[in-house]
Amino acid sequence: MSELVQIRIGGHQTGLGATCRVDDWKTGPTATFLGLSAFIVYSTWAALQGSHYYAGPYLSPMYSPVIWTDLSQLGAAPLEHALLGAWPQWWPSFIPATPAALILIFPGSFRFTCYYYRKAYYRAFAMTPPGCAVGARPQGQYKGETALLIFQNLHRYALYFAIAFIFILYYDALLAFKKDGEFGFGVGTLILLINPTLLGAYTFGCHSWRHLIGGGINLHSKFPMRHQLWKLASYLNERHMRFAWLSLFWVAFTDVYVRLVSMGVITDLNTWG
Ligand code: FES
Repeated sequence: MSELVQIRIGGHQTGLGATCRVDDWKTGPTATFLGLSAFIVYSTWAALQGSHYYAGPYLSPMYSPVIWTDLSQLGAAPLEHALLGAWPQWWPSFIPATPAALILIFPGSFRFTCYYYRKAYYRAFAMTPPGCAVGARPQGQYKGETALLIFQNLHRYALYFAIAFIFILYYDALLAFKKDGEFGFGVGTLILLINPTLLGAYTFGCHSWRHLIGGGINLHSKFPMRHQLWKLASYLNERHMRFAWLSLFWVAFTDVYVRLVSMGVITDLNTWG
């Protein structure tokens, strides 16, 4: 038994990682740590590039919506795809001119404050504690989410932006059916369509959404439409972790796909020839 481990009166063990559990409790937090770390490293790198995020007609979801586009960059979105046009001259040179930096705060804050991700990174990164009935990292007085982590309560507001992003990304997928004025589709179109679908499955399984749509109703039979939406939210909510990971992976995968097509590393199979 580790030196850190002490036996308290009542049989509980204390000290980081100390536990009476005999099941494989370490695999979950370890996989979470590796998966989230990989995503954070990749998405930070991709967001700072400012290039190769567009391969007509495909736009990376990490860059959507494009507020301004810097046409001097390879693989930048065309002017008509940017809400406010060309990148402004007054932009400070010490801040990277990348469209992703202007929008990632919205999906990022939604994920960061998600109830599932809180559990995941409190366990895998903060180790407070690393698992149920497992000794936690030593810490000061616990104040929960009423002090330092009070911003977690903003999740319900981040939800509104996340819902808006689903519609924006479906719009991008619709644009991916047209290239140079000609209707068609390619592998990229399918990838772009799957992306908001998975994000929708994740977002509409959100605890805040479930509460918003049905939590305040006393008599569900009086609100049949909301009751159906609440049932769908409950179904997705039970699978929230699964869709959290699937949608996270797919966002990165879509960016990788668009990036590689834009760089000419791979060729998109499509009907445009
Ligand atoms: S609880 Fe996970 S997205 Fe809201």
